[in-house]
Amino acid sequence: MTLDKENSINNILEENRIFPPSKVFSNNSNIKSIEELISLKNQALNDPIQFWEYYANSEIEWFEPFQTVLDSQNAPFFKWFKEGKLNITFNCLDRHVKNGLGKKTALIWEGEPGDKIKYTYEELLKNVCKAANGLKSIGVKKGDLVCIYMPMIPEAMFAMLACARIGAPHSVVFGGFSSEALKDRLIDGNAKFVITADGGFRKDKIIELKNAVDLAIESGANKVVEKVIIVQRTKKNIPIKVNRDLWWHELLKDQKDFCEPEIMDSEDRLFILYTSGSTGKPKGVVHTTGGYNLWSHLTFKWIFDIKNDDIYWCTADVGWITGHSYIVYGPLSNGATTLMYEGVPRPSNLGAFWEIIEKHRVSIFYTAPTAIRSFMKSGPEIPAAYDLDSLRLLGTVGEPINPEAWMWYKDIIGKNKCPIVDTWWQTETGGVMISPIPGAVSTKPGSATYPLPGIEIEVVDKNGEKVKENEGGYLIVKKPWPGMMRTIHGNSARYLESYWEYISFKGEKNVYFAGDGARIDEDGYIWIMGRVDDVISVSGHRLGTMEIESALVSHKNVSEAAVVGKKDDLKGEVIVAFVSLEKDINSSLELEEELKKHVVNEIGIIAKPEKIIITDSLPKTRSGKIMRRILRSLAAGEKINGDISTLEDSSVLEKLKGSS
Ligand code: WT7
Repeated sequence: MTLDKENSINNILEENRIFPPSKVFSNNSNIKSIEELISLKNQALNDPIQFWEYYANSEIEWFEPFQTVLDSQNAPFFKWFKEGKLNITFNCLDRHVKNGLGKKTALIWEGEPGDKIKYTYEELLKNVCKAANGLKSIGVKKGDLVCIYMPMIPEAMFAMLACARIGAPHSVVFGGFSSEALKDRLIDGNAKFVITADGGFRKDKIIELKNAVDLAIESGANKVVEKVIIVQRTKKNIPIKVNRDLWWHELLKDQKDFCEPEIMDSEDRLFILYTSGSTGKPKGVVHTTGGYNLWSHLTFKWIFDIKNDDIYWCTADVGWITGHSYIVYGPLSNGATTLMYEGVPRPSNLGAFWEIIEKHRVSIFYTAPTAIRSFMKSGPEIPAAYDLDSLRLLGTVGEPINPEAWMWYKDIIGKNKCPIVDTWWQTETGGVMISPIPGAVSTKPGSATYPLPGIEIEVVDKNGEKVKENEGGYLIVKKPWPGMMRTIHGNSARYLESYWEYISFKGEKNVYFAGDGARIDEDGYIWIMGRVDDVISVSGHRLGTMEIESALVSHKNVSEAAVVGKKDDLKGEVIVAFVSLEKDINSSLELEEELKKHVVNEIGIIAKPEKIIITDSLPKTRSGKIMRRILRSLAAGEKINGDISTLEDSSVLEKLKGSS
């Protein structure tokens, strides 16, 4: 791993405003004061095992009790709640029906064209069971990986829960990924089954998901995929491959509406979710049943201060971890009403989100800083046209939020009465790790504030020494937690390398390195400063530079490529690619466009480079390592700071300055 962003983590930003939670909010909240929160934290600190045992027993229903809370024998391959037996769908569905919540709305859904539907807990359970029985009927067994490549429709939720019901881990692939990216994930996970749709609606267009599945299978995934199940969404004509393709509605038509939940071991896999890293192909992050159930449940309850009559809406896609933990599992495990929306704000409806909040009386709204920045850009008159009075709590996730966006969110959307929870976490952490508890913690615009109870965070230097107050360093987690990833699918060496071996703290090896830079201020508030590795965050979407470089060099005209992130007011970062071409190939605008398109085909629209800079050669050290630090400065139009003595050929710099 290369960590050459030291410069960027020492850019200290001054922000002194502080906002205590209002009395009204605190008095009605689940954790009412900082004292109460500190007492919880101390309990966890003094006896973590007892702390987790208490919550695992009081918040989750087990078919058979666990015997060991935490097994560290083979650390960092930690095991939680050993021998415990459960099924997460029982906790998300059956127990609420059993406890009299059967008639409560579990899911409110709205499609981009405006079609709507609601499901009570009873109805959701029935739909999940039908789907589970359908999957069983075509031979899906416990342990088989099922890939879900779908638009944001209720069936995506049914499909995830149906898999969990029968013990088949799911691997949800975001619908914005290309057929190539889908193919890699199908093969890596050895997914025999794919659940998809004939298409989905996005920004007034149709995304052709089934078409991408066909391409992925034709171009190599035929080695693994046996059956494709298709939900009818757009009703457009699509080719059907006999013996391989099945319609969801036909498969489910005669299925029984109850399916016994499979008895799962606490450490049985619940899902794999691919995410980008510094090196190589995206990695399949593995989460297991017991620990993930507890962590997604508990964090949802703590952070969103959930009440029985809340209407909760998270705008993420189920293709990301946010969708897994905070659209599906966390809210449902808590018996909450969760809203799912297929669309996004678009030129034909810039107020789409506010319209949904007004119409469905949303009380808790969770979105991304990049979305907030784009709302700011389109102006306050758009949200002002809607009644947003139902809102009582706002959240953000995915990237650092700049104080201006935070203030705008608070004033314009929250009308100054809603606390904001800025939640820091990752695909790997399963659930939120750092966030204000809204009734207890005073917030500072741009800070995720404190770690949650049971989570021990530190900011250290390369040698694992704690840095001084307000000094930038690497963010580490010192103790294991229930929702943590268990490994990388098929690559435990990479699990160790990426997260556990980079930093040792006080000689203690098992500390988790998150890949982010941070600082802790004089009040103990944590300020996340962004990735310190070769991961770029475009609109909060995580992309590996190497992944994009591999995509570029797979083009026949490209000999070498180096990709860096460039700061962007709206998207956080955008992708700039420096590319050198094969001999006798001339640069042209057409070629630049073609290369952009090529990356979109290889990965997906989210990876489209903003700019391609064609150059004869790239700045390298004498040992041949590309000096990205220099490229980052060039892309940003900044002066080249720092040591360039290791540069092999300094004339490269002059040429690059001319071309960028
Ligand atoms: C990376 C993880 C967790 C769900 C969405 C992204 C960045 C996430 C924050 C925040 C600053 C944040 C980090 C992290 N990040 N939340 N509140 N403040 N940065 O999940 O794709 O696994 O990305 O997103 O850099 O490492 P992910």
